Amino acid sequence: MKVLESKFANGFLRMCTDGWEQGWHECNGGNLSYRSKPEELESVREDLAEGGEWREIGARVPGLGGEAFLVTGSGKFFRNAALCPEENVGVVRVDPAGERYQICWGLQGGARPTSELPSHLMNHEVKKRVSGGKHRVIYHAHTPNVIALTFVLPLEDGVFTRELWEMATECPVVFPDGVGVVGWMVPGGRAIAVETSRRMERYDVAIWAHHGTFCSGEDFDQAFGLMHTVEKSAEILVKVMSMAPRKRQTITPENFRELARAFRVTLPEKFLYPKEE
Ligand code: 13P
Ligand code: ZN
Repeated sequence: MKVLESKFANGFLRMCTDGWEQGWHECNGGNLSYRSKPEELESVREDLAEGGEWREIGARVPGLGGEAFLVTGSGKFFRNAALCPEENVGVVRVDPAGERYQICWGLQGGARPTSELPSHLMNHEVKKRVSGGKHRVIYHAHTPNVIALTFVLPLEDGVFTRELWEMATECPVVFPDGVGVVGWMVPGGRAIAVETSRRMERYDVAIWAHHGTFCSGEDFDQAFGLMHTVEKSAEILVKVMSMAPRKRQTITPENFRELARAFRVTLPEKFLYPKEE
């Protein structure tokens, strides 16, 4: 089978288009990666090139040695991904040591994988370990409302988690572990990858101050749905803060405890601290 006939490539391209349509991917903003299953890789083997040049990842990910990923290209636009996949996305294989990668398909015309490859792969390495191999998708989007909040809320996991949870009753059910926040850093390198992957030990969402959001999920639906839920919750908070500096009423810590019982999720008590509203 050809890569472009596969279900995983089609799911990947659909997600690129969905993210573009949400307005999260101006120019080349955002990037996406998918850790392929061995049987998926085997099914497209006839379409994969051998012997490509090995290049440095810029981070060490020994937990991903030998794995292959479908990734968006650096400088490529999400709005073009589905129209011309061979130029805008590609399959890369990681060497056994987890230090270098090789392009096996796509990224035609001298393209490179996303400049956030260190963050994607370090996040994949953590998520593969903590989810017992279930998580396969890492998604970075330039979500405007989440970005706006990073200018006015304290850059603390507890504050972002609690405020986002309060904005829609089902938010804590979608991200019961909460969200992590990384203060402003230069994107595209190992340092921000290390900070982000630390948050991914505990959370499925990491917010980059004044930049955007990273989400992790088992599949495209889960990762996209998580990004969508977090960004929608941030949009409601932006509206609320714009209408009135103080909320008149909200979902209380006791309400969250009732919700946790009803939906059988564990909400860490550290996020249910008393607040002066
Ligand atoms: P790339 O085009 O290299 O993927 O970079 C886009 C981006 O969002 C950087 O954070
Ligand atoms: Zn970005």
